[in-house]
Amino acid sequence: MKKIGILGSGVVGRALAAGFLKHGYGVMVGTGTPGKLTEWNSKEGKGATIGSFADAASFGEIAILAVKGTAAIEAIEKAGVSTLVGRTVIDTTNPIADAPPQNGVLKFFTALDDSLMERLQHKFPAVRFVKAFSCVGNAFMVDPAFPGGKPSMFICGNDAGAKAEVKHILDQFGWETEDMGMVEAARAIEPLCMLWCIPGLTGGKWTQAFKMLKM
Ligand SMILES: NC(=O)c1ccc[n+]([C@@H]2O[C@H](COP(=O)([O-])OP(=O)(O)OC[C@H]3O[C@@H](n4cnc5c(N)ncnc54)[C@H](OP(=O)(O)O)[C@@H]3O)[C@@H](O)[C@H]2O)c1
Repeated sequence: MKKIGILGSGVVGRALAAGFLKHGYGVMVGTGTPGKLTEWNSKEGKGATIGSFADAASFGEIAILAVKGTAAIEAIEKAGVSTLVGRTVIDTTNPIADAPPQNGVLKFFTALDDSLMERLQHKFPAVRFVKAFSCVGNAFMVDPAFPGGKPSMFICGNDAGAKAEVKHILDQFGWETEDMGMVEAARAIEPLCMLWCIPGLTGGKWTQAFKMLKM
């Protein structure tokens, strides 16, 4: 099984780390504040190793970017661009602005003809970014069990080989993969996070996922 380097130790980093461990992968979590993971590392995160962003990037054959959207570029720089060249980096981030939601609608720091993953891909052209896991809450990222069958995970990215690696992971994690194409499709995928959060922010409902129905 491949080794996974997780850049970020928030709820997404920890949920995916636990999921990769459950599915038999080797996992290192990269964080700027390792002390906060001690308890997690003895429970749900048992078996993961903890290090810096650079340690996790070096460890992982595949990296997961799971940091606050405003810190995404800085996190890749801390991880080490030269280490990540040619690697698949699964981008879970959303460009959520540091401003309160309006009637349950999150504010983004990108506009409709732009996206966070395009900014990352443009700044780090030799890194193989694939958008995934951005349109569902962390509680459902691994082995989601919904009554309507497997939910859809929308992905995009410029590298077909990287997307095939991510599809393999999504197959294992219980998702239907919907490949929306090249990096520009992140303009449509990232705002699904806004849509997903509206029932939560307005009515406390955080237990949904998207499904693409087809003829
Ligand atoms: N929460 C969800 O259910 C959910 C679902 C889908 C997508 N997402 C997206 O996934 C990403 C992670 O979300 P989250 O809720 O787990 O955590 P978050 O609160 O958005 O971010 C926490 C992480 O960001 C890192 N960070 C903050 N400032 C940094 C900086 N200047 N440089 C490097 N790292 C920095 C923190 O590093 P340390 O480890 O050093 O503390 C921590 O790992 C976000 O972009 C979010 O929009 C979240």
